[in-house]
Amino acid sequence: MQRPVSVSDYRTLAQQRLPKVLFDYVDGGSYAERTLAANVADFGQYHFRQRVMRDVSSIDVKSTMLGHPVAMPVALAPVGFTGMMARRGERQAARAAEKAKVPFTLSTFGICPIAEVREATDAPFWFQLYMVRDRKFVRTLIEEAHAKGCGALLFTVDLAVLGARYRDIRNGMGMTLSLPGRLAQAADYARHWRWAYDVGINGRPHVFGNLASRVPGATNFGQLLGWLASNVDPSVTWADIAWIRKIWPGKLAIKGILDPGDAQEALKIGADAIVVSNHGGRQLDSAPSSISALPAIVDTVGDKIELLMDGGVRSGHDVVKALALGARGVLIGRPYAYALAARGEAGVSALLATMKAEMLNTIALLGKTSVHDLGRDDLVWG
Ligand code: GLV
Repeated sequence: MQRPVSVSDYRTLAQQRLPKVLFDYVDGGSYAERTLAANVADFGQYHFRQRVMRDVSSIDVKSTMLGHPVAMPVALAPVGFTGMMARRGERQAARAAEKAKVPFTLSTFGICPIAEVREATDAPFWFQLYMVRDRKFVRTLIEEAHAKGCGALLFTVDLAVLGARYRDIRNGMGMTLSLPGRLAQAADYARHWRWAYDVGINGRPHVFGNLASRVPGATNFGQLLGWLASNVDPSVTWADIAWIRKIWPGKLAIKGILDPGDAQEALKIGADAIVVSNHGGRQLDSAPSSISALPAIVDTVGDKIELLMDGGVRSGHDVVKALALGARGVLIGRPYAYALAARGEAGVSALLATMKAEMLNTIALLGKTSVHDLGRDDLVWG
């Protein structure tokens, strides 16, 4: 491909570039992947109301997300293993985000630790965290995120138990491989020799940077994933999130809400924002798509708390649909991970520029001039 443009172009290139185990990790979802598919497909249910002859010579997509000025209301979502998609991938993505003036979110399962991302960017990137049994660990990470100037904490609440990703199981991800398994993996790496040289050799160390220094005895992915499996806390309740609210002094977004009742709980504990999300179709399979869950949440708490969404956003058109339905902004995960795998920082920059151009064009053809003027009247339902 001479010049990738769309998210699906970058996906094709990422599939060529990455070893299968990594492409499947980022591309896949849980169980039968119904929610993963619905996240994308359900954007197609909404159509735009085209309006003409309205002087659209100047369009404004600037906004704020979680109190941060943004050049457009799109943030990079937390994506585990980003540093396996490209060499020290979190650094590259954070730099692209800074240049595009949009927020980057570092995942708990980032390869680069908070301190390394801090060195790569002057922008106040966001940090994502889960609740694990070891509350001391949670507190330490929160303190570090604060000390390093992270601009917001995205606390993921849809992971009381882990959904199974069958592609990862088939690929033996995180498992100790038998000899034939190891040979197959070596052959896969050899087929993807560009990745193997750039990331496999020059992108080390390959551990979760935020975890490795704090999890005694865990020196590789297998051990770290084992630690996680035994540390996911199914007993977690809103009282624990209230504790997070108390110890995190910055902006707090609760990520992984699909139900208006849960949105009200997030409001009650004093969250600043909600991310309407089904974890990219990676947790409860057959949960509704994020875009279909958004309107009821907007109607319940939309005037009291900032609403963001993620899941299925594949273009600037999708961003505009989410904004028209009442989101203040969106997060993109897979789209930027594909672009990063395909072309590194330059790929993420190009993708963000394309999304912005799509937004500007779409808003103009709606006969509007600002993201702040978008509403449900810009959509034709059904
Ligand atoms: C981690 O949260 C993942 O979805 O892989």
